[in-house]
Amino acid sequence: MAKVKIYIDGKEVLATEGANLLHQARLNGFNIPGLCYHHKLTPTGACRLCLVKVEGQRGMVASCTLAVKEGMNIVAFDQELEETRRFLLDYLVSEQNTHYDGTYPDELRELMLRYGLDKPENRFFKPVKAHVEFRVDSSSPVLTYDPSKCIKCFRCIKACDEVQGKNVLSFYERGLNSFIVAGTG
Ligand code: FES
Repeated sequence: MAKVKIYIDGKEVLATEGANLLHQARLNGFNIPGLCYHHKLTPTGACRLCLVKVEGQRGMVASCTLAVKEGMNIVAFDQELEETRRFLLDYLVSEQNTHYDGTYPDELRELMLRYGLDKPENRFFKPVKAHVEFRVDSSSPVLTYDPSKCIKCFRCIKACDEVQGKNVLSFYERGLNSFIVAGTG
């Protein structure tokens, strides 16, 4: 696909026409946050952390749901965007079990550090999940599934559907009590 010029925070960059805007922005060094997007999967637009402003469009738009067009003019970082991302992340964190033992990569944890939300005193939203009981499944030698850490990004479901072609995973229950099940559970 053809390379076209777009503008991010006033900087001219080359991006692939029709490609995912968030992915292209990151390839060009703009570290826009985002937890539900993965370059091998169709975008979900669930976490809203990748919000940007696009000239000619109202409000903030999830960059993972946009395709690159020639001449696009984007704001990736300004005070309003960063405050909105922090607010959204704070809300997301309030629904998580934030205990971290440091033994695995944790994208949510990295963003908490980036936005200062690793410190409970910096959070506006109080934890709401402490009372919800989930069972940790460590029966696999290669995977551990802890539902209390699920951010409902759909990446595992989509990887199962779109990459593996198995269509095995789905959500069970709703809202705070929802969790991922395989097959009939
Ligand atoms: S990465 Fe775009 S909405 Fe989650």
